[in-house]
Amino acid sequence: MPVPLLQLIGVTKRYAAAGAADSVNVLDGITLEVGSGESLAIVGPSGSGKSTLLQIIGTLDRPSSGQVLLAGKNLAVLDDRELAAVRNRQIGFVFQAHYLLPQCSVLENVLAPTLAGAQSTTRHQQGELPSVRAQRLLKRVGLGGRLHHRPGQLSGGERQRVAVVRALINQPQLVLADEPTGALDHAAATALGQLFVELNQEEGVTLIVVTHAVTLAQRMGRVMRLEDGRLSAAAP
Ligand SMILES: Nc1ncnc2c1ncn2[C@@H]1O[C@H](COP(=O)(O)OP(=O)(O)O)[C@@H](O)[C@H]1O
Ligand SMILES: [Mg+2]
Repeated sequence: MPVPLLQLIGVTKRYAAAGAADSVNVLDGITLEVGSGESLAIVGPSGSGKSTLLQIIGTLDRPSSGQVLLAGKNLAVLDDRELAAVRNRQIGFVFQAHYLLPQCSVLENVLAPTLAGAQSTTRHQQGELPSVRAQRLLKRVGLGGRLHHRPGQLSGGERQRVAVVRALINQPQLVLADEPTGALDHAAATALGQLFVELNQEEGVTLIVVTHAVTLAQRMGRVMRLEDGRLSAAAP
């Protein structure tokens, strides 16, 4: 049986309240397996720990206890430098805000993650050149005519599509999206949701999306609900 791409085993996250003896268990024993190529939506009330969970999966934060394994590798044994390399090569992020560099063109923004670390260059040399891949994906998401625009010259939906391409540029195994449609109008949100589904299949990338949008959640292969620190299967 192949090793799942992602395994969480009894993950907890506790935040100590400042100056107080008591602490809150935001995540209270999360166990989860996500297979390669799967798409998963995580839903749940505001403040239930969805972003915290995504940051732990994405190596931006460490659990208080429990284990996170990516492709069978225990992330707890990696130091911060090694974690940064995993993050850059194996994981792509899309947030509610696009975080594009305003002074850089669309193409430069998409290529920015390829400049960090020699390993990503090596990876690319096995396949498409980064600039070729960037232009192919930008064309794929309907932005072939916007390569040299600045983010400020784009609509909100177009900016999020650039952010999606940037997340995919290093050929990550896993893409994590935290409320990616939260700042978009209905039409742009629908289009972005459709794009996620198609890219999940075309690029063979595993996708975990935190969302309030029922229609986006329903497009994913599986829906889980985070509440009271626990994750459970949600009705799709
Ligand atoms: N760095 C932090 N320090 C203390 N508490 C935090 C921190 N980050 C998040 N929290 C708390 O953890 C809970 C979950 O937050 P979050 O993961 O952002 O929830 P969600 O994304 O589901 O809205 C909230 O109660 C929040 O206040
Ligand atoms: Mg959040």
